[in-house]
Amino acid sequence: MAQLVIEPIASALGAEVAGVDLAAPVDDATIGQLRAALLEHGVLVLRDQHLQPRQQLDFVRRLGPIHFHPHVGGLPDLPEVMEILKTETDTENFGAGWHTDQMFLPEPAMATCLYALEVPRVGGDTLFACMRAGYRALSVGMQSLARRLRTVNLSVAGQLQRAGASQSARYGSMRARDAGTEEPEAVHPLVRTHPETGDDVLYVGLHTMRFEGMTTEESRPLLELLTARVVRPEHICRVRWRPGSLALWDNRRVLHNALNDYPGKRRRMHRITVAGDAPFQRERDTG
Ligand code: SIN
Repeated sequence: MAQLVIEPIASALGAEVAGVDLAAPVDDATIGQLRAALLEHGVLVLRDQHLQPRQQLDFVRRLGPIHFHPHVGGLPDLPEVMEILKTETDTENFGAGWHTDQMFLPEPAMATCLYALEVPRVGGDTLFACMRAGYRALSVGMQSLARRLRTVNLSVAGQLQRAGASQSARYGSMRARDAGTEEPEAVHPLVRTHPETGDDVLYVGLHTMRFEGMTTEESRPLLELLTARVVRPEHICRVRWRPGSLALWDNRRVLHNALNDYPGKRRRMHRITVAGDAPFQRERDTG
């Protein structure tokens, strides 16, 4: 079993993990340690990895079945591996804005593994925010209200389609597809219980359009307040990438936001997501 060294990088979430080479065979006990660390810290960062796409995929498969993005294709020979690419001439970046992966599906991705191939010398960091801390930062009265609400969620492709814009044009260097005109929405509890830790989290992000039974306009003020509660500075960690850095995060607990602060520079990453289950809320006696 590898001797992992785990160093938290912020109070609310995030840790750097040293002592494992994912290009070499990784035993089950080490995978177990990584899983436990992911549940504890929400975001893990492993530096100086040297991975071919197949090796990254072999690692992620140890964590669970692979999830395929409905609107972005993978590598021609490995469809499980999505290339996130922003070139010197692109202006938009994939993954901007606070979100949790595939919240717009009935069964959103459980975890995401992102591996850095080419990054700007400065810029292109990814921010992560703790939805558990966001829930805990609400008053008892607001927690009780939030527990009774459900959200309606739509993909970015669907949002662009409704606005008369095109996802394939926006992310021109990626294998992005446009949404159909009948893009489905997914309804989830606003307060989601983490299926492994039992913690309640405030499950809200940029895919969230409105509360069930309310209009977008009626929903917007409370959605903005709740999102702001999650992304408070003290609930955040920031990952600065180097080529060979790999991050693994738990979409059931964290939001993330890829910064677009590197105009004229190139950034290329490989992303693989692990399939997840339908969000639910465990009943609590809230007094
Ligand atoms: C994503 O949302 O998966 C992209 C994150 C990133 O490129 O930093």
